[in-house]
Amino acid sequence: MAGGVKALKSGLLLPAYVRLVNPEALEQDHIPSQVVYRDKQLKVFLDEFKVMKAGFPPPRLIAYGPVGSGKTVTTRKALTDVGVEHVYVKAEPTAYGTLVALGEAVLKKRKWGLSFAPLWGDIEAALPKQCIIVIDEAERFAFRDERRDELLYYLSRTRDLGTVLITNRYDVMRSVVDARVLSSFSAQAVYFTPYSANELTAIVRERVKEALDDPSAVEGGALNLIAAYAAGRGGDARYALDLLRAAIKHAVVNGLDEVTPHVVEEAKQDLERESLSSMLTSLSPTHKVMLLALHQATTIGELYTLYNRLAPTYLLEPLKERRLREIFLDLQIAGLVETTRKGAKWLVKPAPWLPPEFLEKLKASL
Ligand SMILES: Nc1ncnc2c1ncn2[C@@H]1O[C@H](COP(=O)(O)OP(=O)(O)OP(=O)(O)O)[C@@H](O)[C@H]1O
Ligand SMILES: [Mg+2]
Repeated sequence: MAGGVKALKSGLLLPAYVRLVNPEALEQDHIPSQVVYRDKQLKVFLDEFKVMKAGFPPPRLIAYGPVGSGKTVTTRKALTDVGVEHVYVKAEPTAYGTLVALGEAVLKKRKWGLSFAPLWGDIEAALPKQCIIVIDEAERFAFRDERRDELLYYLSRTRDLGTVLITNRYDVMRSVVDARVLSSFSAQAVYFTPYSANELTAIVRERVKEALDDPSAVEGGALNLIAAYAAGRGGDARYALDLLRAAIKHAVVNGLDEVTPHVVEEAKQDLERESLSSMLTSLSPTHKVMLLALHQATTIGELYTLYNRLAPTYLLEPLKERRLREIFLDLQIAGLVETTRKGAKWLVKPAPWLPPEFLEKLKASL
């Protein structure tokens, strides 16, 4: 609201204003001064890293939890707070791609073309004597690529090398067959739970304090609304911060002095339009047709049959079950599908957060 009056200082009514003093605090990869409500998980990491610093073998940990539950930020915060040597990489869709990414992080150059063993040899030789390798979003390669065992084997066989795997899939180790890998990765599990609306309010409030010159420019009601939407999406702090950033942007672009609940509503629509169109451009025709089939199918079996029935209409070849399963997994990882078990059957439907106009836009994009 233009000209809103927010603070009473020395008897003077001062107008609120939206001005960023620390815009990085609104970015997703910013490590905040405080990671709140994750004391239990933080303590596991801090204790393990401190013990490692004292000379004990580094830990092997797996952080499990849903999207936006603070896995990445808690891990990174603990690593930097204790000051242990570490290498952080986001997994790629293949084990080899992940190894190349690891090589890039360690060797500071991208080495394609070397086979697995020599590339690992180069990486290992360049690592500090004791260190932790963090592989974030490990589900990206862990299900679809049989060479996951090889990568995990290399990561686990060196005594002075610790690992933290981060994932939102509880069954991430299910596909591993190598017994040596399974035994070294009978790692300690650290579980992250979704945030409640109150916790999300506190998380966004802290960011507002870090980012804005005048934190009162974001109304309490706006913070609560952001938290309520994020709680409705499974307690996702990532979404809460995206919405906060979008609301602040919306206020700046429109010359508003305050972020009100109305601004949050507007920003939510901006965000939905943006994410819908970028999601649609990122999907291949095959993925789109499976999403289309998903709107009519109730079981996985029906979904695959429907896909193959629809495919020729969109000039696509019918696919074998193995490929259909891979595409389904991609959609699951992207959070576009909701799966529930009913007896021996898996029921499927489009993710509940997809807006009502999604189907129409999907069809128009094909
Ligand atoms: N407890 C917290 N305190 C402060 N900021 C937090 C907290 N939890 C999460 N965040 C912030 O919310 C965003 C999402 O958190 P994070 O990236 O750690 O989630 P994640 O569990 O790794 O999600 P994903 O599975 O999508 O990778 C980040 O910007 C992070 O800084
Ligand atoms: Mg993460």
